[in-house]
Amino acid sequence: MFKVIIVDDYDEMSDCAFDIVKEIVASKPDCVLGLATGSSPIGLYQRMIKDHLDNGTTYTAVRTVNLDEYLGLPKSHPESYYSFMHTNLFSGLDIPASSIRLPEDGPDKILQGALYDELLNSLDIDLQLLGLGSNGHIGFNEPGTPLDSTTHVVELKESTRRDNARFFASIDEVPTHAITMGVASILKARQILVVASGSNKAEAVAAMINGPQTTDVPASALQLHPDVIVVVDKAAAQKL
Ligand code: F6R
Repeated sequence: MFKVIIVDDYDEMSDCAFDIVKEIVASKPDCVLGLATGSSPIGLYQRMIKDHLDNGTTYTAVRTVNLDEYLGLPKSHPESYYSFMHTNLFSGLDIPASSIRLPEDGPDKILQGALYDELLNSLDIDLQLLGLGSNGHIGFNEPGTPLDSTTHVVELKESTRRDNARFFASIDEVPTHAITMGVASILKARQILVVASGSNKAEAVAAMINGPQTTDVPASALQLHPDVIVVVDKAAAQKL
């Protein structure tokens, strides 16, 4: 079930998402947060860091698991999701390094997926944060991903590589594959928070909420979850 909150712009979206995260961390200091990369959560992450510095909100008991990681980029690459998370969030908070996990590349991709699922099965994610792909993907679960998918390797769609080319020198440098938590793993979270802004997300937001539940739009799987908060700005809400 969706609770949809429509706000004016990206900053208000970030304020609203921050209030939700702060409430969870305050009420359950040892919560498990499922985290995302990309442009959508950066404002939220900045607010978490500011609040930690200004108000002393502590994350020492929080554990985090990330949705996904590119394959074929070393962790040290500035555009790896490992680097993204350390640059944009972890370096500004006091989460112990041992409480931070992202899916990892490795010689045996099936084993890497199984190890991540083992970790996810040992945790209950209190809040899973999601951005939304313009093609309706969540994590890197691209259109066509089955509902019962767990952590797996995906070949990124051309539209996703185009969307993410802004972070690289050219589209040719955008990895072709990634490892991602599956749709089933995402649906296991106790609560889900989706943040989306901008008119390029409007179709995907409408399809997620009001479209048929179909693997063509992976985000429509969220219709099956009992507690999803969607925070969108006016531009992303224009097709609702
Ligand atoms: C990132 C992720 C992706 C993004 C989505 C939106 O970890 O899993 O699903 O959330 O591609 O990206 P942005 O926020 O950059 O528009």
